[in-house]
Amino acid sequence: MQKIDTTRLQGLARAYCQSAVLYAAIDLQLFTHVANGSDTEARLAIALGIPPLQVERLVTAALAMKLLETDGATLRNAPDTARFLVQGESGYAADWLTFTRGDVPNWFRLTEFLKEPLRPSTLGLFETQTVEQARQYHAATYSIGTGAARRFVRSVDLSKRCKMLDLGGGTGAYSITAVQTHPHLRAVVLDLPPVTEVTKEYISKAGVEDRVTVLPGDFTRTPFPDDVDVVLMASNLPLYNEAVIGDIVRKAYRALLPGGEFHLLGEMLDDDRSGPIDAAMWGVNEALSRSEGKCHTISQCVGYLKDAGFTALRHDVFVPGVLHQVTGTKVE
Ligand SMILES: C[S@@+](CC[C@H](N)C(=O)[O-])C[C@H]1O[C@@H](n2cnc3c(N)ncnc32)[C@H](O)[C@@H]1O
Repeated sequence: MQKIDTTRLQGLARAYCQSAVLYAAIDLQLFTHVANGSDTEARLAIALGIPPLQVERLVTAALAMKLLETDGATLRNAPDTARFLVQGESGYAADWLTFTRGDVPNWFRLTEFLKEPLRPSTLGLFETQTVEQARQYHAATYSIGTGAARRFVRSVDLSKRCKMLDLGGGTGAYSITAVQTHPHLRAVVLDLPPVTEVTKEYISKAGVEDRVTVLPGDFTRTPFPDDVDVVLMASNLPLYNEAVIGDIVRKAYRALLPGGEFHLLGEMLDDDRSGPIDAAMWGVNEALSRSEGKCHTISQCVGYLKDAGFTALRHDVFVPGVLHQVTGTKVE
């Protein structure tokens, strides 16, 4: 018989320590120093400028968390820290990995937030966002969004498509990558007005102003352009409840040209709600802004497309444990 003890619960109760160690290691550029040759604790103490005992503590935790590896004599980065947490590497994703760090105090007030009345029809954390806040937020989404966008463009055949509507497109990472891959394609990024100011900066940096435009607005209210044959909605699913997502999907169906396709990419839950944990936590995150957003199951998402009239429905894992993709076509 399986022995029941408290170890799993202890691990959960103190999981915050691991987040804190990761943040400190990023702040101190631990992985960059290791990559640059400070591969012993003695060298790290000099490079980091902190006492040897503190280095020992940090390195011990990083080894236990499998962020660092050792052969007994020297330290090296684990494959993921080497790729994503060494400054100067193209995959450097520290902005993204510390993206929600500012939310930490509120997460520790979750009990209070769960008792708060909800605010219907709210834009949640986006309600009061300024251009500067949007710029910071999207520096983080861009560092990860381009990788996801490349995956999208590889997995979806856009070669015969003419124009994509990118709902809540943020930096426009998906649109920019799509038109760079398919020079004949055009895209329009619909996002909130402070965000589209930032989107324009990314579009201009990529030199695709002639092919990607912005539509400042609120996708729950703003009419969609009616000359698009692809609609994409990526990474904003948990911000809204069933009714709002259902409305957006119906609006996308009406806007699409016959034969057009809709892609819903989001943090979806397995139907039995056994995971992924990331999707579940994005749902809980909505409690912090008292929004009516929530996590949606894969079947629910397929249902939104089906109810809107889409056919040829498909769904698949997009990024394991993080994003799922549901796709449908509007009949010719
Ligand atoms: C997590 S970001 C994802 C950005 C982009 N789709 C990506 O995957 O890189 C969510 C985006 O949805 C936008 N958004 C949320 N609610 C919106 C609304 N009602 N209307 C327009 N944009 C919205 C936010 O401003 C933000 O840019």
